[in-house]
This record gives sequence, C-alpha cells and structure tokens, in this order.
Amino acid sequence: MHSAAIRLQNVSRHYGPPESRVRALDDISLEIADKDFVAITGPSGCGKSTLMHLLGGLDTPDAGEIYVGGLALHTADEKALTLYRRRDLGIVFQFFNLLPTMSVLENVCLPLLLAGDAPATVQGMALELLDLVGMVPRAGHFVHQLSGGELQRTAIARALIHRPRLVLADEPTGNLDSAGAARVLDVLRRVATQALTTLVVVTHSEEVAEAASRRIRLRDGRLAAE
Ligand SMILES: Nc1ncnc2c1ncn2[C@@H]1O[C@H](COP(=O)(O)OP(=O)(O)OP(=O)(O)O)[C@@H](O)[C@H]1O
Ligand SMILES: [Mg+2]
Repeated sequence: MHSAAIRLQNVSRHYGPPESRVRALDDISLEIADKDFVAITGPSGCGKSTLMHLLGGLDTPDAGEIYVGGLALHTADEKALTLYRRRDLGIVFQFFNLLPTMSVLENVCLPLLLAGDAPATVQGMALELLDLVGMVPRAGHFVHQLSGGELQRTAIARALIHRPRLVLADEPTGNLDSAGAARVLDVLRRVATQALTTLVVVTHSEEVAEAASRRIRLRDGRLAAE
C-alpha cells in the first residue's frame, strides 16, 4: 500500500433488531486525501467510533464500500485485514493500551520486534520517535510512572514506529488535563507537518479540530455540512 487515500461509498452500519434498530452510520460517502490530517467531530453517539472501527478493519459495514489505499476493506478476508492492521495502520485509543510491565522504550519497540526486526535497529527508530513526541527523558520509565499526557504521547510514538500509512486516534486528548492535551496536540501537529501519515482523529476538543486541515462533522450517523 503506497497511499492511504480513503474512500467511503454509501456506508451504513446498523445495530440491533429491525424494530429497535440503531443507525450508527447511515449512508455515509466521503473521501480523505493521502497524508491529510482530518478531525471527526460530533455529539456523543453520532457514530464517530463506529467509523473508526470500520476504517481500522475491526468491523465491517452492513452496506457500502470502504477503500483505503485501494484495499477494499468491505470485502477483504481476515488474512488481508490482519496484514492491513499490522502493516498499514497505527491506532491510538482513548484509554491507553500500553503494556504495564514494559518501559516506554520497550512499548514503542514492540510492534517492530513482533514483526521480527533486529532489536538494535528498532531501538534507534524508537528513540527517534520518542524524540518527536518529547519522551526521550522518560524512555526508561514504566507505565505507572507516567502522566496521562505522557502515556498518550508514548502511544502515538508506538502507533508510528512501523511507518503506517494511516493513523487512527479516537479521542487522544479525551481524558487529559489542558497541559497534557496541549502537548499531545503539539505532537499531532508535528506528525501532520512532517506528512508522516494520513491522520484521522476523533475529538471533542475545539483546539484539536482547528489544528486539523479538515473537519468532518457527524450527526445521528450522517454527515453534516463541512
Ligand atoms: N456494539 C453495539 N451494539 C449496539 N449499539 C451500538 C454498539 N456500538 C455502538 N452502538 C450505538 O451506535 C451509536 C454510535 O456509537 P459510537 O460509539 O460510534 O458513537 P460516538 O460518536 O463514538 O460517541 P462518543 O462520543 O460517546 O464516543 C450509539 O447510539 C451507540 O449506542
Ligand atoms: Mg466514541
């Protein structure tokens, strides 16, 4: 996959039985350019996380087509989706998913070590990314020794280490104080400025949405005017 241009064509995702059906996403069509930094905003329950799960190949639509860099996610088999997630995708969750028994540096190295890369090369790349997110001074710390903002910056470094085409972040500043959120935002800006990857960020934060080059607003599972 050389590009991570995204195209959704008439995508719907419904939950529940017909009589009490929730239209989490209702006939969404949109395109996102390669290397763009896009914010997804909208009220709670409007379908933001549902959209992220579909883009991440973690869920499949009931109707419609989803393409990332030419890969048809809606018809891809489990093997292709596993490869897509491992090779092309970086994910940052609202509730951190770092491993508590490992240091910051080890957490960031992990995706490449699991892929079988040599530890010496991996460590150099990890330190470069920790520098990007301002975490070199904390490289030896364990997860319980970090602030929320530091955890989230580590998670971003880890999401980038395998040079993914697409990074999906679902409320990366969601449970941070304003100082922590500002540092994470600064990191997102740097990632976007260096055009390292396509960046799709779900956020309730006005500052994060304004930092993006484009905002996609959802309401009741549908697109609102941009
Ligand atoms: N597994 C599920 N089963 C049934 N309904 C679900 C499921 N997941 C989500 N929904 C419903 O789909 C709608 C969209 O949910 P989603 O998680 O995408 O919202 P969101 O925009 O991410 O909200 P928030 O800002 O609170 O995170 C909601 O009404 C939710 O209750
Ligand atoms: Mg959500």
